[in-house]
Amino acid sequence: MDPIGEIVAYEQAALAAIAAAADAAALEAARVEFVGRKHGRLRDLQALLGKVDPAQRPAVGKQFNEAKTKVEAALEARQKELTRPKAVAGGLDLTLPGTPVRLGKKHPLVQTMDELKDIMGRFGFSVAEGPEIEDEWHNFEALNIPEDHPARDPLDNFYLAAASVAAANAGLAPVSTGQTESTRPVLLRTQTSTVQIRVMEQQKPPVRVVSLGRVYRPDTIDASHLCVFHQMEGLMVDRGVTMAQLKTVIRMLFSSYLEHDVSIRFRPSFFPFTEPSVEVDIPWGDDWMEIGGAGMVDPHVLSAVGYDSDEFTGFAFGLGVERLCMKRHGITDIRRFYENDVRFLRQF
Ligand code: PHE
Repeated sequence: MDPIGEIVAYEQAALAAIAAAADAAALEAARVEFVGRKHGRLRDLQALLGKVDPAQRPAVGKQFNEAKTKVEAALEARQKELTRPKAVAGGLDLTLPGTPVRLGKKHPLVQTMDELKDIMGRFGFSVAEGPEIEDEWHNFEALNIPEDHPARDPLDNFYLAAASVAAANAGLAPVSTGQTESTRPVLLRTQTSTVQIRVMEQQKPPVRVVSLGRVYRPDTIDASHLCVFHQMEGLMVDRGVTMAQLKTVIRMLFSSYLEHDVSIRFRPSFFPFTEPSVEVDIPWGDDWMEIGGAGMVDPHVLSAVGYDSDEFTGFAFGLGVERLCMKRHGITDIRRFYENDVRFLRQF
């Protein structure tokens, strides 16, 4: 008998079988065959060693232990190999942790407008849209703001140069006498109240709409003013619409958006297109902050769009979206919304 030869043969056979195992089942079969406790070949080998000549024992024992360790290590290594996902061409290691993907999100102002639309939708208001480039009819005249009114001062408005205008004119009111497509003045709208007129021109009462979007004013920029900001316009016209309903709708809107009961303050004011008119304030620290204007739609405005102002009354409001969002999130500088700093934007 050649015990060393037996051990070497065992080892070679075991290593070959392990290397050839193509899947977990084949490897398990090899494990059972070569190191299995009950009928494994290792056990047979061990039994054989009992019969070895005592003088040979230390050398044979050493050989046996080495073979056993090698086979066990090979089993373990092959096991790992078989469970690891295969690397693809180019040596890409698919077991490495991936680079996290950051999901993009809507801008906080868009999120705010979505929420406001939702809330107003529950009150029965649908959403209307209007263009940002407007004519003087919708931005001024139909809103009872006559030619000589200071609000029409070119210094207080972004009028557009004639050349850029023709292309932008789709959807604007028909050219009035003495004007051509390219001489009619147009401007970036200063208020979403333009959409009140557009809706009423298209639709008979009852009307319940909101319109949200950008407005433009040449303002001095500071922590609470920008040259562009967003408004939410609201308009409700029907028989018997009252100022009490206006106040209730605004208060419920704010309470719903700010998620707590909000008191609001109406301060007497003036707008050419509402009578009476108010400024709407909400609590801001120890003080109040103006958040927009509102009032009962002036009968002149109703007549200008062909509504019977004896039969119908209406309320309208225009609210600053930025300021509402600032109030809810404790933002103290309106400029943050427009700086595109991802450290700010990621918080929403
Ligand atoms: N359009 C007014 C503004 O921008 C706000 C307003 C809207 C006031 C509707 C009354 C009614 O200041």
